[in-house]
Amino acid sequence: ALPRDLEGVRVVVSAGGTREPLDPVRYLGNRSSGKQGYALARTAAQRGARVTLVSAHTVGLPAPAGVDLVHAGTAEELRDAMHAASPNAGVVVMAAAVADFRPSTRAEYKIKKTDSDPDPVSLTRNPDILAELVAVRAPGQVIVGFAAETGDSNADVLEHARAKLKRKGCDLLVVNAVGEGRAFETEDNAGWLLSADGGERPIELGSKAHMASDIWDAVAQLIQQ
Ligand code: PMT
Repeated sequence: ALPRDLEGVRVVVSAGGTREPLDPVRYLGNRSSGKQGYALARTAAQRGARVTLVSAHTVGLPAPAGVDLVHAGTAEELRDAMHAASPNAGVVVMAAAVADFRPSTRAEYKIKKTDSDPDPVSLTRNPDILAELVAVRAPGQVIVGFAAETGDSNADVLEHARAKLKRKGCDLLVVNAVGEGRAFETEDNAGWLLSADGGERPIELGSKAHMASDIWDAVAQLIQQ
């Protein structure tokens, strides 16, 4: 049986990938399936938490039992949903893959194919939702970020991740080493858990539910402090 160490704790988890529309039928997106975020939400509910799952696009995952599901398709919708859900939360987890940029304009009608060279797509920066949530965090609220990093070596990945933890100001950063059948789209995940106090430990390759358990163990420890 799972520990009930999150009994009554309000938790907000974001999951999935945002889609940034170019026109009514096209978008810029990413490969997030939503599986890691949904596993986090499900596990938290099983451990007694009151969970709001803010879901961007997934591979059609069903809502986990006992979880309030809010849909958010674009980065801006996800931002609004996170700001609405987070103020009363004890824990906020940003597992969604949020597009850093969106097309600067959204065409009202489907963009036509022409014989001339296509126009370049101009992009506008999306808000950094995690940084915003850190800036307005309630006292004692625990904030968990994710980092999907690519690099030539583990040392490379960890160096980027340490810098990201400092920059974003969250309490915990879950680092996925992207590639080799891990992180995006797959059933399994592996990586490291970095904490703001300098703590650093590996998360062994396993299911996304397994990774979720490791993350909630670390969060429960922080809450108890
Ligand atoms: O969905 P799955 O297929 O199961 O895959 C899981 C996952 C790999 C998508 C997930 O584990 C993960 O790593 N999610 C975050 C991916 C990501 O966008 O990383 P990043 O390094 O670009 O962003 C760092 C952090 O800032 C993340 O917590 C992200 O949610 C957040 N962010 C990013 C951009 C932005 N504009 N606003 C944000 O809040």
